[in-house]
Amino acid sequence: MLNYTLITGASSGIGLEMAKVCAIKGMNVLMVSLPNENLEEKAQSIAANNNVNTDFFECDLTEIKEIDGLKDWLIKKGYGVNFLINNAGFGGTVKFSEMSAELVDKMINLNIKATTHMMNRFIPILKENQPSNILNVSSLISNQTAPYKALYTATKTYVRNLSVSLAYELKEEGVSVSVLLPGATPTNKVVTHQIEKGNFAAKVSVMSAYNVAKISIEKALNGVIIITTGAKNGFLRRLLASIPNKLTAKIAINQYKKQNK
Ligand SMILES: NC(=O)c1ccc[n+]([C@@H]2O[C@H](COP(=O)([O-])OP(=O)(O)OC[C@H]3O[C@@H](n4cnc5c(N)ncnc54)[C@H](OP(=O)(O)O)[C@@H]3O)[C@@H](O)[C@H]2O)c1
Repeated sequence: MLNYTLITGASSGIGLEMAKVCAIKGMNVLMVSLPNENLEEKAQSIAANNNVNTDFFECDLTEIKEIDGLKDWLIKKGYGVNFLINNAGFGGTVKFSEMSAELVDKMINLNIKATTHMMNRFIPILKENQPSNILNVSSLISNQTAPYKALYTATKTYVRNLSVSLAYELKEEGVSVSVLLPGATPTNKVVTHQIEKGNFAAKVSVMSAYNVAKISIEKALNGVIIITTGAKNGFLRRLLASIPNKLTAKIAINQYKKQNK
């Protein structure tokens, strides 16, 4: 059975760059994202440029039953998985009380529930194909006090904590678990706008999606549990952890006001 790297959110941003980095390293790739994002074309181009096998599956991961559909598809096709990358997720800067019920559900379903159920469904397959790896995408600002990003940072704190505990739980079973804490990465319009209007930390932490992908894939394959990208972001992570909540809250509130002038 041929093994693949399964990447969610692979149609754009960090996920697409991860697919390219894996293919450059000779790894076969299965790309997952929402429908109608030219995923087929992107998967074919990556296969042709790197002489690897790729395939794609379009689904909405906020519908948890679609994760079962993804697993059934993969088994029917006879694909093995030895690297799972849970990258699909989204954030934004918004007043919590002004988020619609649909938006609240969507963020929790994608960032938390989909990541959790993907691991729950795919760990048995990863164990069959050990040594294998999981890489979950959290954020440099997980664990931070962040008004106006309150739900987002809470979801990313969940991803980080779940990943670190599972890293130790699965170590004996041949599955390495890593969690990536990316800083600001110019991908979609929302993030690019936030970086342009951003504070010192956002500007200092900026790194291209390709570099984030390359560093994180290499560190995950080497078994690093908590992954920061580059010395600057490692320093920023320690700095943010040492600043009192009151101060990080003040920085975030000023940031929100600046962005909404
Ligand atoms: N960019 C940053 O500065 C930054 C910083 C820290 C952490 N992160 C995290 O890094 C990850 C990737 O972010 P990004 O900036 O690269 O995002 P992005 O460019 O917006 O890409 C998001 C990907 O997720 C897919 N996706 C969204 N909703 C989905 C759904 N319901 N079902 C299936 N796929 C879905 C998108 O598919 P479609 O193209 O089909 O919509 C796209 O492929 C996220 O978890 C994000 O929270 C990003």
